[in-house]
Amino acid sequence: MKTTSDNSGDVRLSGISKTYGSFTAVHPLELTVPEGSFFALLGASGCGKTTTLRMIAGLEEPTTGTVRLGDQDVTHLPPYKRPVNTVFQSYALFPHLDIFENVAFGLRRRGIKSVKKQVEDMLELVQLGEQARKKPHQLSGGQQQRVAVARALINHPKVLLLDEPLGALDLKLRRQMQLELKRIQTEVGITFIHVTHDQEEAMTMADTVAVMNGGRVEQLGSPADLYENPQSTFVANFLGTSNLIEAEVDTKNGDDIVLRAGGGKLVLPEARCSAPTTAGGKVLVGIRPEKISLTHADDAGEIPEGRNRLTGKIADASFIGVSTQYVVDSPVCDELAVYVQNVERDGRLVPGADVVLHWSPAHTFGLDAAQSLLAGTVGSAGTEEEVAA
Ligand SMILES: Nc1ncnc2c1ncn2[C@@H]1O[C@H](COP(=O)(O)OP(=O)(O)OP(=O)(O)O)[C@@H](O)[C@H]1O
Ligand SMILES: [Mg+2]
Repeated sequence: MKTTSDNSGDVRLSGISKTYGSFTAVHPLELTVPEGSFFALLGASGCGKTTTLRMIAGLEEPTTGTVRLGDQDVTHLPPYKRPVNTVFQSYALFPHLDIFENVAFGLRRRGIKSVKKQVEDMLELVQLGEQARKKPHQLSGGQQQRVAVARALINHPKVLLLDEPLGALDLKLRRQMQLELKRIQTEVGITFIHVTHDQEEAMTMADTVAVMNGGRVEQLGSPADLYENPQSTFVANFLGTSNLIEAEVDTKNGDDIVLRAGGGKLVLPEARCSAPTTAGGKVLVGIRPEKISLTHADDAGEIPEGRNRLTGKIADASFIGVSTQYVVDSPVCDELAVYVQNVERDGRLVPGADVVLHWSPAHTFGLDAAQSLLAGTVGSAGTEEEVAA
């Protein structure tokens, strides 16, 4: 069931910003969301996600800039005149109406008499055909959320805005609903803009993720691109875990940069470095925990040539079944995280053991050392302060 046939569903935000008094919630933003895509706005609490979404919906007037839907400038249209519908975290169904009538509501309000076929199709889409005559309180949280989605989709919006729609659900149901929403989006083919502070949720569902920080989009890309090629410490730390090691540019060698870290050398492909690379300059060398191998110091001779390597001592090991997560202290960097898949466990890799961490230079990324190492980590200074600064 395709609700749009023309190509006029792109959402284009040009220079939109929002200030409240002297406080800037959203800095001028350039963003295009292609028609038919599943787009996620991801960021910590207070970074401006809801404000951005409300400006698209028409619930908030931008301080500057324009909102376009395809060729139409909708900046000054009231919400009900925009081909946009919103699903909120508190999906507030009408408690006295049954599920059928909740979904039919938008059609009845527009004076449409024969709603049966459309409502039944919509209930089938969200797999609630059997529940049509129940009241909202007789449904589970996930079922109620699907009713809210059906109630929005029946108005045939070009764009569906979802503001933390799964926030009230427990983890297992959340995971289930993420797949369910993705299936519904694929089936109806309209643009979904999904707001979440859960990086795993954004990665699972979206084609494109915009990572927001302090009222700005810090980086935009596919989940894999953001994960593999973070351009800032905030993105490197906010999406998964990154080890960031301070190093100094030594020389260039073909397409690689050779860096000094402690007494040793680390190699980084120049194309994967977003920092200036003048000799003597500082770079943060990034490596994801699952890309690192651990070898007991006694077997260091067996490590193949050409790998980046650091020596260290295991400080902590947590066995979690599928893998073991190690914390390793190295002379160049404390508390390096290393995830080792549970294939053949080396019984010598216990706290106190001397080890060598090694990885392929190709998996290394480089970041500008002028940034905070801790940006985007859990418990780092909140983004609100950065907005106010
Ligand atoms: N009406 C308002 N007046 C003043 N400040 C506001 C107003 N609405 C939002 N803000 C501020 O703007 C910033 C962005 O708010 P917004 O609701 O967009 O954040 P968010 O990213 O959706 O956060 P959360 O994940 O907590 O929902 C916050 O610091 C918030 O306090
Ligand atoms: Mg919000």
